[in-house]
Formats: sequence, structure tokens, C-alpha cells
Amino acid sequence: MKVAVLKETRANETRVGLVPEGVKFLKKKGFDVVVEKGAGIVAGFPDAAFEAEGATLAPDAAATVKGAEIVLKVLPPTLAEVGILEKGQILVSSLVPLANLDLVRALNDAGVTTMAMELMPRITRAQTMDILSSQATVAGYKAVLLGANTIGKFLPMLTTAAGTVRPARTLVLGAGVAGLQALATFRRLGAQMEAFDVRPAVKEQVQSLGAKFLEMDLSQDMEDAGGYAKELSQDQHEKELELIAGSIKDADVVVSTAQIPGKKAPTLITRAMVESMKPGSAIVDLAAETGGNCELTRAGETVVHNGVNILGPVNLPASMPYHASQMFSKNLVTFVMEMVDKEGKLNLNWDNEVLAGVCVTFQNEIRHGPSREALA
Ligand code: NAI
Repeated sequence: MKVAVLKETRANETRVGLVPEGVKFLKKKGFDVVVEKGAGIVAGFPDAAFEAEGATLAPDAAATVKGAEIVLKVLPPTLAEVGILEKGQILVSSLVPLANLDLVRALNDAGVTTMAMELMPRITRAQTMDILSSQATVAGYKAVLLGANTIGKFLPMLTTAAGTVRPARTLVLGAGVAGLQALATFRRLGAQMEAFDVRPAVKEQVQSLGAKFLEMDLSQDMEDAGGYAKELSQDQHEKELELIAGSIKDADVVVSTAQIPGKKAPTLITRAMVESMKPGSAIVDLAAETGGNCELTRAGETVVHNGVNILGPVNLPASMPYHASQMFSKNLVTFVMEMVDKEGKLNLNWDNEVLAGVCVTFQNEIRHGPSREALA
């Protein structure tokens, strides 16, 4: 069976869907792997490294996918890329179907089987295939470095001949995968930490990283069946803002990561809160792409308001492409094995909740309910 790896073509995307280690793994399992020339160079994986593990190089995208059963990518394809895919091929990449309905329609019309990896169910068995988690790990780590690099201060406490430096105060809003990684990174750098999340279940995880958990009585279960947060009522939201306002005024670096799947990110940092902060401090808003947790965030820009720096980075994983690709590749390789039986033959068993959960199109049928409804 042939697995093809396409080079990313969208602006500023630096990652690659499969790294040489993934080629090695798939070759051992009996797959042939074809990689588009130059696919991994920007991420730090030269063509020769893929060849050394047994991959064949192809000169362009069309030659890469020719005759392949499975095509691996990081970002959703462009409409032009859909044009080179063959009927019956299985595309495995991120897709964000509801934001890319034209792509869903084109993939469906082309008879491509589409696996949208961000739809991975949040079950224990699927953790190794979860691209949202692996890439959020990168984003949480990088957010701390960006914040640290913006403030004119040390993060750790220092006792030096030139005096004593107090540790920086940091606040993490949303302690999911990215937020917990941000806390772990702040800890490695010696900062003081506070964190808040609406899911009380994370309190223990926050505390185990050495951070103080800001508590609020929500008097109801704030987690849905998928492990994601529910939206707060207006009353709860006001209480939440009060709690954050009490902490944020002393923070040197704030990392915010709060998201509600399918909705605009909740506003957790108001203009008045920014105005209560110290000049020189920084907010790194990881929710910038879904509307931002801070009222003043602008995606892809740094806004300076009253001396406070509000960073709205987009696609942070692409700023650390080597390890982001390595993790993405591990997710994809594990998923490829999910699609084959013990003899290495394709086995798209729709009773398998992982396959059923991520499949968007199959044999000219839109299997993803929300996309089907939106396109009806
Ligand atoms: P996310 O990226 O959707 O949201 C980030 C965080 O923001 C979440 O912790 C959420 O509770 C929080 N949040 C939402 N609204 C908020 C508000 N108004 N104020 C403060 N915080 C708010 O979440 P992520 O990181 O993708 O993880 C969500 C859950 O899924 C976690 O419990 C995680 O452990 C679980 N998970 C399970 C996996 C599996 O079992 N395969 C894989 C990955 C995550």
C-alpha cells in the first residue's frame, strides 16, 4: 500500500505531515512511502533523511499522490490540491469542515475519503492520534517563551551581587492541554503561577504543577461528555470576570487559552482589566484565531495598550516546526495503523468510533452530520 506525503503550500505553514521516523515505522509495517521533494526542509527534515529511511521522492504534488491509497498532509488542501487527488484516495489531514464547506463539497464530489483529524474523539485510546493535543502542547510552550521575551523582566527569582530579583507573576486562563503546558513551562523558568479554568476537574492538575488555582463556585458540572468546557451563564461569566480582575492586575505575563468548541472564544480579559495591568506586562492570547480571550486582541498582531503588550499569535505550532511535525507525524502514523487490519489491508470499519468520528466524506457521501446539514 502506498502512502503519499504532500508538501504544505499555504502561506507560513512550515510543518510536514510525516517525518523520517514515521517513514521508518511505515516501511517496517510494509507500506511504500512517497514524499514530495522538499516537503520537510523548512521543518528541519531534508530529502536525504526521508530517503535514508526508505522513502521515494517525487518531483511535484501530482506525481506524489499518483496511485497512492493514503495521502498525508498537515493543513486542509487547497481547492487546486483537491483537483489532483484521485477517486477513492484517503486524505488524512486537518480540515475544519464547517469553516471549509467548499472544500468538503469538492472532496465529496471528487470521491475522496476525507479524514479530518481535529474531529478525533476525546477517548483515552485516541490520545496518541489527537492533533489538537499535540499541537496545543507546542502552542502552550511557545506562548510562554513569547511572553518571557516581551517583558523586560526575568521570570525566576535571582539572588545576585547586584541585588535580588523577585520572580515574575504569571496567570494562565484555561488549563486544558495548552494551558497546562504553559504552566509546566513557566515552572521550568521559575515564575510564580496562578491559573483559572471553569472545569474544577483541572484544579488538581494545576496544583500538581505548583500553581495556585483560582476557585469559583460554579455549582454545576461544567464539562460536557467530550471533556470540553460548557459555556457559562451571564451571571457566572460576571463572577468569573471579577475573579480574573483580582489576579490579572499583578501579573507580568498572562497566557490565555480558553475555548468553547464551535463558538467564539469567551471574553475573559476586558479593556478595563488591561488598563489595570502594569506597563511592560504581556498577554499572550492563544485564542486569537477564534475571536480572542482579550477584548483588545487582534489575530496575528501585537497591540500595545497603555504599555501592556497584547500578542495574538496565529499558528504557533508552525513557529516550532521540527517538534510540531514530529508529534503530528506520530499522530498520523498511529491513525494510519487504525485504518488497516493485522495483515496490513485497508479496513474502514465504521463501528470503530475513531474512524467514524473523523470521517467527513466517503464514496461521494458526506458522513459528517454538521457538514451535511450545512450543505443541504
Ligand atoms: P480547549 O482548547 O477546548 O480549551 C482550553 C481550556 O479552556 C479548557 O480547559 C476549558 O475548560 C477552558 N475554558 C473554556 N471556557 C472557559 C472560561 N470561560 N473560563 C476559563 N476557562 C475556560 O481544551 P483542550 O485543551 O483541547 O482540552 C479539553 C479537555 O479535553 C481536557 O480535559 C483534556 O484533558 C481533554 N482531552 C482529552 C483527550 C483524550 O482523552 N483523547 C485529548 C485531549 C484533551
